[in-house]
Amino acid sequence: MTNQHNDLTTLQQQTQTRHEIEAAITSIFAAEDEALRSVLADAKQAGLPLIQISPIQGKLLQLLATMCNAHKILEIGSLAGYSGIWLARALPPDGRLITLEVSPEHAQVVQNSFKKAGVADRSEVRVGNALDLLPQLQSEAPFDLVFIDADKPPYPQYLDWALRLTRPGSIIVADNCIRRGEVFRQPEDEGTAGIAEYNRRIASDPRLLSLALAMDDDYTDGFAISVVKHP
Ligand code: DHB
Ligand code: MG
Repeated sequence: MTNQHNDLTTLQQQTQTRHEIEAAITSIFAAEDEALRSVLADAKQAGLPLIQISPIQGKLLQLLATMCNAHKILEIGSLAGYSGIWLARALPPDGRLITLEVSPEHAQVVQNSFKKAGVADRSEVRVGNALDLLPQLQSEAPFDLVFIDADKPPYPQYLDWALRLTRPGSIIVADNCIRRGEVFRQPEDEGTAGIAEYNRRIASDPRLLSLALAMDDDYTDGFAISVVKHP
């Protein structure tokens, strides 16, 4: 056997090990129920892109929401409502999730998803451009957790709003902050540039304590998690 063959076999074994570990963690800690599975099937049926967070990320959102005793959660970018369900399920009965969605068609899917998952009573979809809707949320602030997972170029502006709409101890999470490492190289498109700027800002803003964590797409993408520090 050649060295090259050995190297390839080792890489394949490592890939398989990573997949086995992720599957085991998902099954033990983050198993989807019938509603979550059904919502994904509906999203596929409706032709929505299948770019939702992983179950492990969903469970992490629940963990973070519970850690900050979240009663009010803001999500920027609903997609099919999959992440919204994970978030809303971490709320107490009198809690509230507000999720912002630019597409009226997607918002309809989200509404149905929330009904299916039994969280429609504590969840609200607002339709429009997030940068138009965010200023209207100031009377409903502070939010205990903000989850950013919308279009990528305005991520820095979403961060500005997240900081305006939170309190010390609130948690701000953004998806897709690693993107195959592209965000750490010279950005080649506006989306990557937006995320790169987001990462730079959360890493250096004295109001935040932050970390990007590789956890999705075979450890090539993941959340950046920040907590708003006490002054
Ligand atoms: C894209 C957007 C996402 O939020 C994601 O998780 C993956 C991909 C995209 O726009 O390609
Ligand atoms: Mg995403």
